[in-house]
Amino acid sequence: MNILKEWYEKIEQADDVASLEEIRIAVFGKKGVLAGEFAKMKSAPNEEKSKIAKELNTHKTALMQQLSDKKIELQTKELYAKMEAEAIDVSMFSTKSSAGALHPVMQTMDRIVEYFASMNFTVKTGSMVEDDFHNFEALNLPTYHPARDMQDTFYFKDAMLLRTHTSPVQIRTMMATQPPIRMIAPGAVFRRDYDLTHTPMFHQIEGLLVDEAGKVSFANLKFILEDFLKYMFGDVAVRFRPSFFPFTEPSAEVDISCVFCKGDGCRVCSHTGWLEVLGCGIVDPNVFEAVKYENVSGYAFGLGVERFAMLIHQIGDLRSLFEGDLKLLEQFQ
Ligand code: PHE
Repeated sequence: MNILKEWYEKIEQADDVASLEEIRIAVFGKKGVLAGEFAKMKSAPNEEKSKIAKELNTHKTALMQQLSDKKIELQTKELYAKMEAEAIDVSMFSTKSSAGALHPVMQTMDRIVEYFASMNFTVKTGSMVEDDFHNFEALNLPTYHPARDMQDTFYFKDAMLLRTHTSPVQIRTMMATQPPIRMIAPGAVFRRDYDLTHTPMFHQIEGLLVDEAGKVSFANLKFILEDFLKYMFGDVAVRFRPSFFPFTEPSAEVDISCVFCKGDGCRVCSHTGWLEVLGCGIVDPNVFEAVKYENVSGYAFGLGVERFAMLIHQIGDLRSLFEGDLKLLEQFQ
């Protein structure tokens, strides 16, 4: 049976399923070694036949068992090799994922809204496409009023336009509700401007407070704006300068002491020591008339959010905020 012994070794040494299959055919096939041995048995002396048959059958069973064990072993090995070859290395090319962050203008807007919300102001929004009545007319800016020139914008047909300020939200809120009103209106506005400190689209926050006649004074306005500006910029000096807005009377422009030079005078504040940050005033009676309010008093203010963001983060060129440059934006995360 030596001839069979070598096959145990061959099975043992087979290193893939395909060569194992060749061995199986060579041993168990019709013309295989076993068949050959059984055939030879026929010519053996009769008394030895049963012994040979027994021995051959023992080998047959043993070889079959070894073959099937080996097959499982090789299949497993091949499966693992295949898995390894086809595996995706998830640790490769791992790029750092970032959760992102709010744009500095939006961060600033949130902070401003946070202050006024804490003072019981409600947040109102309006449409960016407005009509002439809400953007100008009702705000005491009749068609040929020269102050319209300060706010040139983009016009559509039928006296529709991109709103030049958030003030139309004052009008819409007053026409939709009755006093008392305490509202702010954050949102995008549009003007035909483009330089270091102006972009055609920017954001404003409007504020309006209306109550019974005689209840709202310039002192109230002064108090809340001073408190607000100290909340935003820390310990700055605040100054009110007489100014003009068609929808407020009296009107004022509000300055803070320069956050860069602390009032000594530098390039940013044009050596004045002051930075202009918002416009405000007592609501003009003509505005109340336009919305059919009687026996009321109120104050209003409006500010540019980008201007605040520039001052808080010491950004030199406003336009850079809108270029989508991650190197700049990532500094504010
Ligand atoms: N709407 C004014 C502007 O855009 C700002 C403002 C609002 C001034 C409310 C006074 C009162 O310039």
